[in-house]
Amino acid sequence: MKKYKSFGEKFRNRELPQKSSRCMFRESETDFFSDEEILELLNSLLEAERAGARAVSALSHQSDDTADRSTLHEIAVDEGRFCAMLTNHIIRFNGLPSLKTGEFLNKIMALESFDEKLELLDRGQFWVVRKLQGALSRIGDEKLHDDLMDMLEVHEINMKSAAALRTSRGTLTTPGVN
Ligand SMILES: [Fe+2]
Repeated sequence: MKKYKSFGEKFRNRELPQKSSRCMFRESETDFFSDEEILELLNSLLEAERAGARAVSALSHQSDDTADRSTLHEIAVDEGRFCAMLTNHIIRFNGLPSLKTGEFLNKIMALESFDEKLELLDRGQFWVVRKLQGALSRIGDEKLHDDLMDMLEVHEINMKSAAALRTSRGTLTTPGVN
């Protein structure tokens, strides 16, 4: 017996966004994103998360502190999980998942010091938080809304973990935005 479903099986069995569920969800709000706007949002988040996953993974290997490595590894796992979630929703909405990686990765890797990289990583996570906060009320698809809400909450938690890490290194001055 096969343990995993092939991509083709998953694609055929995927749960398509339902117009009816969109109408039932928060009926009073009508200014929802179109499918095209949702795909644009999801692909921009996917590119950012891919950059984040690679950057945090690289940082976790560069750290000489076991606790820092563990914190960064956990954040990298979350970033990777969100790449998969975003990809699945893009396919649900009949879109093509972007294969690009956000410029953010090159910007982080170009920095000299570990602490500068952590600071820019924090800015990147804050960008995602603001993007999600601005978009959630315009997502009419309940399943996508739930997953993006989870993504927002996990990013807020991970930003606190990263802030604690920077505090312990004595490099945090303004939590979340410096
Ligand atoms: Fe992220």
